Amino acid sequence: MKKYTIMTMGCKQNESDSEIIAGMAERLGFEKTDDFKECDLIIFNTCCVRENAEERLFGKLGEIKNIKEKRGTIIAVGGCMTQQKHIMEKIKQSYNFVDLVFGTHTLNKFEEDLKKIIENKEKVRDILDIDGEIFEGLPIKREDKFKASVTIMYGCNNFCSYCIVPYVRGRERSRKRENILKEINDLALEGYKEITLLGQNVNSYNDGEDYKFANLLNDICKIDGIERIRFISPHPKDFTDDVIEAIKNNKKISRLVHLPLQSGSSNILKLMNRKYTKEDYLALVEKIRKQIPDVVFSTDIIVGFPSETEEDFEDTLDVVRKVNFEQVFMFIYSRRIGTVADKMENQIDEDVKHERFDRLKNLYDSKVSLNNQKYIGKTEKILVEGTSKNNDNMLTGRSDTNKVVVFEGSIDLIGKIVDVEIIEEHKWYLKGIVK
Ligand code: 5AD
Ligand code: SF4
Repeated sequence: MKKYTIMTMGCKQNESDSEIIAGMAERLGFEKTDDFKECDLIIFNTCCVRENAEERLFGKLGEIKNIKEKRGTIIAVGGCMTQQKHIMEKIKQSYNFVDLVFGTHTLNKFEEDLKKIIENKEKVRDILDIDGEIFEGLPIKREDKFKASVTIMYGCNNFCSYCIVPYVRGRERSRKRENILKEINDLALEGYKEITLLGQNVNSYNDGEDYKFANLLNDICKIDGIERIRFISPHPKDFTDDVIEAIKNNKKISRLVHLPLQSGSSNILKLMNRKYTKEDYLALVEKIRKQIPDVVFSTDIIVGFPSETEEDFEDTLDVVRKVNFEQVFMFIYSRRIGTVADKMENQIDEDVKHERFDRLKNLYDSKVSLNNQKYIGKTEKILVEGTSKNNDNMLTGRSDTNKVVVFEGSIDLIGKIVDVEIIEEHKWYLKGIVK
């Protein structure tokens, strides 16, 4: 049997796209492996949100050139990076041995393109600038058995000034409610327990005036078998009261709300085109907390955005102190060609960016154990994922708020949601006993 592998970079959306790519590759008779050396097909599903992914892709392409020469391996590069002109130029000039280049708007044609390469031994470059298409009915080879991601909307209209996504994923478009509900219903029948709804701006979901994100959440909660619902990423400016109400009324919706902050400085937020201030963000957090007392938050933060002063950065630290985030995803600002922020003056020195990143990380790290204390003595519902990596006798799973919890138990519990009393905290995981 012919073998393939996929190297996926970036976000959950890309991971989800890779499951579709895998579905198509397997339909053409390829079997998955992790060993590049034995591959007949190597696929890179790329990300361009930050610079380091580019270095990784071109480094890897350089490395596998000789595997291709030896075995005749088909090399495919797709995803967000290839939607950018300068990347296509670079592939053409220095990496023209790549057989297939596809983009975010031609993912659905991966199978057809691959067939052309196998049958005609030709190179295919299949990139489209126009969007508007929604892919339905493509095969999906899911990585997990109990947790699944379901894309509900594509694209983004926000044009945050640092972000490349609107340029490579196109404008917002939502899937029809019936297709989403059917997909989740089918997943429930297959035994899936947890669903993560995906969208670049997930709470802008809109299937007509009378059917928005809160309506969809309420309908998904009615599906028997699905016991936990997460969604990423919402935009604070679109976090409407009906969504807060939907979370409050449905225990199935996770009490961990991801609410990207990006910066705690109102000046920087304005330059970022985020459309809220520091005060708006804190007020939203308070409003959600008042309605849902057991809610916790996670966030994304960028440090070193152009013209960020020490005072601006202190504002970010201030919000981190005030909100007590459960999880913070931290990023060093990375210039992206074509974005508004890339043309701004006052780009910040790399040393300053790194120094601020370290300070933010230290602040967050220093709070993790303290934040974990609130779980001790509580009983949490844990979706059991498998045996612990470090200890075969222990099981591991995730709580509603995405905490890793380790406990003793029989392997029959894998795939089930069980009550576990938390007895210890170990910073990056909690320890418990089955009730
Ligand atoms: N530089 C650094 N981080 C970025 N992100 C998006 N664009 C950039 C950039 N140019 C971060 C944001 C976003 C997350 C997915 O990636 O925090 O929420
Ligand atoms: Fe990028 Fe902003 Fe859209 Fe998120 S909301 S994808 S950060 S432009």
